[in-house]
Amino acid sequence: MKVAVASDHGGINIRKEIISLLEELNIEYEDMGCECETSVDYPDYALPVATKVAAGEFDRGILICGTGIGMSIAANKVKGIRCALVHDMFSAQATREHNDTNVLAMGERVIGPGLAREIAKIWLTTEYQGGRHATRVGKISEYEKENL
Ligand code: RB5
Repeated sequence: MKVAVASDHGGINIRKEIISLLEELNIEYEDMGCECETSVDYPDYALPVATKVAAGEFDRGILICGTGIGMSIAANKVKGIRCALVHDMFSAQATREHNDTNVLAMGERVIGPGLAREIAKIWLTTEYQGGRHATRVGKISEYEKENL
C-alpha cells in the first residue's frame, strides 16, 4: 500500500504522528506538506492528495487540518474519492468496511495525536466488506459517472 499524507498549518502535529505510524507499520508513504510556519490554504493540500489517489498513484490519502472539515470537503470534490472525516475508532472501522473510503480526514483541534494514531491504524488495516455495501458504493460511482 502507498499512502499520501498532507496537512495545513492546523494539522502538523498529527501529521507527524501519522508519519511515525506509517513508518512503524512499514507502509510506503509520501509526505506532501505543508512546510508551513504560517497559515496556508487547506485546498492546496487536499486537492493534490485526492487527485493522486484518484489517479491510482497512491492507494490511500490521509489529510489533517484544524477540524478535518475543510480537507474532507475539498477531497470529496475529486471524482473517485470517498473521504471520511473520522474522530472515533468505531467510525474508522465502519467507514472502511462499509464505504471503502480511500481518504481519511482528521482535525487536530478536535482530537489528540494518540487517538488520531489509533484511528489511522484501524483505518489502514481494516478491509472493505463489499457485498451489500458494494451496491451502495456503486450507486455513488454511477452518479459520479453520469453527473460530474
Ligand atoms: C485553518 O484556520 C482552519 O480553517 C483549517 O485548518 C480547517 O479547520 C478548515 O476546515
